[in-house]
Amino acid sequence: MKKLILGVLGSGKGSNYRAIQEAIDRGELNAEVRVVISDFENAGILDIARDRGIRAEYVAPGKFRTKLEPEAEAKVVELLKAEQVDLVVLAGYMRLVKEPLLEAFPRQIINIHPALLPKFPGLESWKQALTAGETKSGCTVHYVDAGMDTGEIIAQREVPILLDDTAESLHARIQVAEHQLYPEVIRLFLRQ
Ligand code: GAR
Repeated sequence: MKKLILGVLGSGKGSNYRAIQEAIDRGELNAEVRVVISDFENAGILDIARDRGIRAEYVAPGKFRTKLEPEAEAKVVELLKAEQVDLVVLAGYMRLVKEPLLEAFPRQIINIHPALLPKFPGLESWKQALTAGETKSGCTVHYVDAGMDTGEIIAQREVPILLDDTAESLHARIQVAEHQLYPEVIRLFLRQ
């Protein structure tokens, strides 16, 4: 069966990317990450890729804070197309995706979000869940559209919120669930 070719976009430490890569290493996911792209030059996610000999690219985001400048997004598209990517995986990518990327990869861009969407989109959603007094949280993998965490939901995994949870302990529990769920969802794309 043909391998799924992945391109990963991330802004942070890259633990979800690492989980995907480890699932591939264990033979649980018939995929190959060809390129990892970040909007932060010093992002840990780029170091993980470099350590594994995988192409790691910093693309300067330009003047906006919440999205890439169109030229920067076009550069991202160029990199992904050059590597013949089948599925674009957002792993802690903290910018909205706009037309050049959405048009180049229709229903081929997915994101993981640390909440049970549609509740708590946006930043630090685990803190939002704690403040709201929720008894459960979790993570969601969804298709990406032009909105903030608004695309069609593919899968979710719940975790409990415990009475003595802090923001850190809750996010850590959600991340354990993320690291299981994301490779499982990516595997679904092999059958398409
Ligand atoms: C993850 O918890 C991911 O769900 C979240 O950023 C973290 C990145 O961690 N993404 C969002 O909040 C997107 N709205 P990682 O760099 O260790 O994978």
